[in-house]
Amino acid sequence: MTPTENHRIIDRMLQHLADGTTDLAPHSIEIPSSEFIDTARFQRERQKLFMEMPQVVAFSGEIAQRGSYMTTTILDVPVLLTRAADGKVRAFLNVCKHRGAPVAAGCGEARRLTCPFHGWSYDLDGSLAGRREAAAFTDMEHDSNLIALPVAEMCGLIIVGAQTTVPQQKLENALSGIDAALAGFDFTDAMSVGRHRYEAAANWKLVAGLSHEAYHFASVHRSSLAPLMYDRAVVDTFGQHTRWAFAFRGIEKLAKIDAAQWPDAFPGAMNHTIFPATVIVVNSGDAEMIRVEPGLLPGESVVYYSGVARDKGNFEACREAFEFGGKLFEEEDLPAAEACQKGLSAGLPTVIVGRNEPVVQHWHQSWNKALEGEKY
Ligand code: FES
Ligand SMILES: [Fe+2]
Repeated sequence: MTPTENHRIIDRMLQHLADGTTDLAPHSIEIPSSEFIDTARFQRERQKLFMEMPQVVAFSGEIAQRGSYMTTTILDVPVLLTRAADGKVRAFLNVCKHRGAPVAAGCGEARRLTCPFHGWSYDLDGSLAGRREAAAFTDMEHDSNLIALPVAEMCGLIIVGAQTTVPQQKLENALSGIDAALAGFDFTDAMSVGRHRYEAAANWKLVAGLSHEAYHFASVHRSSLAPLMYDRAVVDTFGQHTRWAFAFRGIEKLAKIDAAQWPDAFPGAMNHTIFPATVIVVNSGDAEMIRVEPGLLPGESVVYYSGVARDKGNFEACREAFEFGGKLFEEEDLPAAEACQKGLSAGLPTVIVGRNEPVVQHWHQSWNKALEGEKY
């Protein structure tokens, strides 16, 4: 994001506020409810969009230090991320080669990771460092190192393939088009302010859609977000990916001053959604990641929510912004998605996505194209 690009977005936003408009899609669309409740479709989504495609799972700043590690999961796959002494990020199945127990939990710094079951220990580069009674295993023909997963680090984001068969080239291309828009936000040096995991009784696409439109601000967030932010949208697409900017109330004051005096950072939030469903929210000094994925059934999803302070001098303010966003998401957004899921299961034939919800439209089309194997 360059200052020029930022000023262009401010300009478009001021125009919307002056005209009472917002970015619109050409048509409204209807989506069959089966896309949210059908089990066969759901299994295809899990396989095609999550198991076979790269996933943005963390900010680089969440494991910034050499000798640090963190764990997460992609669907049912336990994932270990490390940054060893050589500074390189690696990803592994968080699965001990002995009997399959996870070798690490949570996050932290360590020279070695020791499996809690029988005590095999591993270096952060994944190689087996030691095991008790080693003579009992000398007849084994293959190595006992951790199983490496495909991984890439770009724009201060860590991208992982949940299976060893995901081609590395797919990871290298995972941010194609949106990389320039993400550059310059300094996720690399940002400092972790927290991490939460939520489970929701709603299809993952309904949950992802919560971060794709502002139409619900005036009702769902009537007394929380709506008093702080306008619900006008400036939307851009970058191949499969999207960016949706919405502004703080008060931005209209910029219309009265020369553009040369405008701030270099957008006075509001920018939600960048990266295929298939990781939303990077960039605010003034902080940034949050909302990674949505399917649960075990069509009506279940899991959300990983993490935050970093880009402006480390304002760590506490960034932590508060992260907690505020998380509370809003958990207490206001997720219940709305869960209520809709019940309505869809009760027999609503289609859901409507208006012209004023272009990002929601984009993502349904983008997921459908990927399921059909169509290339961008
Ligand atoms: S399962 Fe890890 S040491 Fe046995
Ligand atoms: Fe919301």
